[in-house]
Amino acid sequence: MAGINKNAAQIRANVVSNKRVGQYHQLIINIGDLAQTCRPGNFAAISVGGENSRMVLRRAFAISRVSANSPSGGTMELIVAPHGQGSKWLCAQGEGAILDIVVPLGTAFGIPTEPVQVLLVGGGYGSAPLFGLAEVLNAKGCRVDMLLGASTASKIYAPMEGKRAVNSLRIYTEDGSMGQTGRVTEPIAGLIQDLNIAVIYSCGPMAMLSAIDEIARGTDVVHQCAVEESMACGIGICMTCVLPVADADGNISMLRSCIDGPVMDGSFVQWDKVGKAL
Ligand SMILES: Cc1cc2nc3c(=O)[nH]c(=O)nc-3n(C[C@H](O)[C@H](O)[C@H](O)COP(=O)(O)OP(=O)(O)OC[C@H]3O[C@@H](n4cnc5c(N)ncnc54)[C@H](O)[C@@H]3O)c2cc1C
Ligand code: FES
Repeated sequence: MAGINKNAAQIRANVVSNKRVGQYHQLIINIGDLAQTCRPGNFAAISVGGENSRMVLRRAFAISRVSANSPSGGTMELIVAPHGQGSKWLCAQGEGAILDIVVPLGTAFGIPTEPVQVLLVGGGYGSAPLFGLAEVLNAKGCRVDMLLGASTASKIYAPMEGKRAVNSLRIYTEDGSMGQTGRVTEPIAGLIQDLNIAVIYSCGPMAMLSAIDEIARGTDVVHQCAVEESMACGIGICMTCVLPVADADGNISMLRSCIDGPVMDGSFVQWDKVGKAL
């Protein structure tokens, strides 16, 4: 069983900028030398509400991208949806605000040793970490195709500079307000065949991850997914983030998605048992 990410540290970090992008906020945060230890798939656990807040639990956010040598030093980018109290507080933090952050946490996406064809699938803000991943895969010589989906256009996160690292990008919205109408999972089976896909990397709502896994099952495609299970501590102590996962012998145990994940082999996750007692 895994332990807390060996590079993790608790720091007080400065907000460099906070910009609205569609329904999301793009936060750039100065994390100094820790930027060099962050890998695509890792997340940050951020204390919300300020010193006297009753919101005692940190909130987890996927690290979208890092820059080791920006003019402000080492920085990380987060894409935050203003959802409930904690994320709305974070989205209200402007330039110069100081945040209490533990970073980097969790497992990272595995990078193939040889150049292969890969498909990246992102749902909503789940696309954010996939652009940093695309850059790494592209540098490895992989062909990178990407699918992004959301209910509506303003929930699609697809930055111009991120698109440079992908060979193709298709967008799906359920209301047809951007790209093609429908679910992001619809073209996957065809693309696996047409593009000879070896690995699917996914990040987004659990229902989307489960649907992708069903499509990949029975093929030779490896499915690496970043799960998003509610997390209270983010560092392996509280057991609130457990998921049923099988080992190579088929034995199922409850693994902590904050330290054994968030990136997991989708074929081992017991999707039909998630949220149920074993
Ligand atoms: C690995 C990971 C990556 C994520 N990445 C992103 C991202 O990139 N962008 C983004 O916008 N969101 C992301 N999220 C979701 C984010 O962590 C928050 O859940 C979301 O922002 C809602 O929090 P809130 O405070 O706004 O909402 P609220 O509804 O106020 O918060 C949820 C409430 O549930 C409580 N809670 C949370 N977990 C538990 C628990 N395990 N047990 C008991 N109570 C709990 C909180 O304390 C809080 O009161 C990610 C989550 C995970 C696990
Ligand atoms: S969030 Fe506490 S153990 Fe994972």
